[in-house]
Amino acid sequence: MKTMSLRLTVNGEAKHWTIAPGDLLLDVLRREGYFGVKRGCETGECGACTILLRGKPVNSCLMFAAQAEGGEILTIEGVADGDQLDPIQESFLDHGAVQCGFCTGGMVLSAKALLERHPDAGEDEVREALAGHLCRCTGYRKPVEAVLAVSKAARVGVKP
Ligand code: FES
Ligand code: FES
Repeated sequence: MKTMSLRLTVNGEAKHWTIAPGDLLLDVLRREGYFGVKRGCETGECGACTILLRGKPVNSCLMFAAQAEGGEILTIEGVADGDQLDPIQESFLDHGAVQCGFCTGGMVLSAKALLERHPDAGEDEVREALAGHLCRCTGYRKPVEAVLAVSKAARVGVKP
């Protein structure tokens, strides 16, 4: 089998992996132990496989790993700082926005990308950012409320 080398940064750590040219980024990340990157529809519909590539949400089921060469990836495993959850993760818990959790990693990452661009994003922006994520358990109201609580806290300068 033809192989190639892939160098990238995942959650702040430099990685050097051997891949096949046709390997999907989703498959490579899960093979390397990033199981927070979920395998859902594999057609770009559900958002469960979302990662941030260079700060932007990407469906990892829709791209070849080779296309990420030299890139910086954030998976849900890299969002918390040790035991300290990210404020968006805290807010999802506080708002009951997590049930089975299958969609949660992707939603948190998309919300993080949004709030990094627009810390005080409003409801329309939050809904748009989460629009690519399907949730079969919680629905969408609670995740939207959870993200809005963080953006509201940014507006008034308090902890969410
Ligand atoms: S598994 Fe990638 S969008 Fe559903
Ligand atoms: S919490 Fe189960 S799919 Fe969203």
